[in-house]
Amino acid sequence: MKNRPNEVVYNLEASKFNWDIAPGKTIEAWGYNKQLPGPELRANVGDTLVVRLTNHLEEPTLIHWHGLRIPAAMDGTDVVQKPLAPGEVFEYRFVLPDAGTFWYHSHANETVQMERGMYGSLIVEDPTDPVFDGDKVLMIDDMKLNSDNEFTRPGWFVPRIVERHDGREGDTLLINGKENSVIDIAAGQTERWRIVNSSSARYFTLHLGGKEFKMIGTDGGLLEHARTLTEVLITPGERVDIAVGPFEEGETILLESLRYSRSTFLRPKRQQFATVNVGEQKASIAYLPETLRVIEPLARQDAAITRKVRLSVGPSLADGMDFLVNGDVHAHDKPVKVGELQIWEVSNTSLMDHPFHLHGFFFQLIEENGKRPEYMAWKDTVNLPPRSKLKIAWMPDDRPGRWMYHCHIIEHHAAGMMAHFELV
Ligand code: C2O
Ligand code: CU
Repeated sequence: MKNRPNEVVYNLEASKFNWDIAPGKTIEAWGYNKQLPGPELRANVGDTLVVRLTNHLEEPTLIHWHGLRIPAAMDGTDVVQKPLAPGEVFEYRFVLPDAGTFWYHSHANETVQMERGMYGSLIVEDPTDPVFDGDKVLMIDDMKLNSDNEFTRPGWFVPRIVERHDGREGDTLLINGKENSVIDIAAGQTERWRIVNSSSARYFTLHLGGKEFKMIGTDGGLLEHARTLTEVLITPGERVDIAVGPFEEGETILLESLRYSRSTFLRPKRQQFATVNVGEQKASIAYLPETLRVIEPLARQDAAITRKVRLSVGPSLADGMDFLVNGDVHAHDKPVKVGELQIWEVSNTSLMDHPFHLHGFFFQLIEENGKRPEYMAWKDTVNLPPRSKLKIAWMPDDRPGRWMYHCHIIEHHAAGMMAHFELV
């Protein structure tokens, strides 16, 4: 809904509601505007986004704008904002500095609120974006439901520590809030699909029946060059934009997640999320340029490390396991100075994977286990396999305030694998 030029206004009402994930299969969801996912927000780069959030839940909530380079006060975490009590209204207002695929989600009691559906996408378009025949957002999620389609929480000590250890994964597989969804595409056409992993803990290895697709973008917008792939791993919090097609009329393609072992007690499975149906032939206007954009490197691979961030797990008497950043739960990290290039060594000394997410800033991967990464990209979330080490570079621009980073497996975040720091 456009009001004044350059101002895009949305109202989001957080509430509980019944949602059909399949015909006759109804869950009690929590979400925005009684939709799961919440409304797809779209605007142009440079627009001012205004979102009025009203909390109709019976508990406090907040919205975090995942991946957006906005002022700290708008980041929607409890280190910058008092959570909205039931009945309260808050207006988020900020300029959209970058084009790309972003998302919003609750940042309060996330293991419940996000699991039940409090998320949606925010697509920022640029008039110079490559042209496609269609543009779809696919939000990946899974839910753990009992046979009455209820969200039960593990009550006993052992199931509780297993969920804390592994993150919550369930066998109800959703794309845009629906089980077994059908995605239509016309034969002969090429579309841009923006994939968002909004699950609590699921590692999603996208596979389109072995068909090649082109990865064109990720968290911080377009890559320099498209990468031709048949599968791509998307960990919780990450986004991947792909160009798909052209396909032939009458084809049916499975959209699956391939097996990925993230070294937990969960057995890796190959699972079907959706079916792609190829309809009647249509003309195409899609055009993908050779260079999508130029990304200037922030630092060389050998740049001196300015900070070390170590992710680890340790025993806890009460809960079996604690999830730590530099040996601490919910850590306070040292301040960062505006304008001082940050070279962080992020290491994972544990024996399971963790997706590391930095709020409010894009970083570049400059080294991956001693090697130079295969391609250049702007990221805000990156996976760390067991015993791996990454070097990331990021530039703190003039947006002072409190920021955070954490593991995007929501149960690990809740169990302490997060830190916040002051940008001064
Ligand atoms: Cu999507 Cu604090 O993160
Ligand atoms: Cu983790």
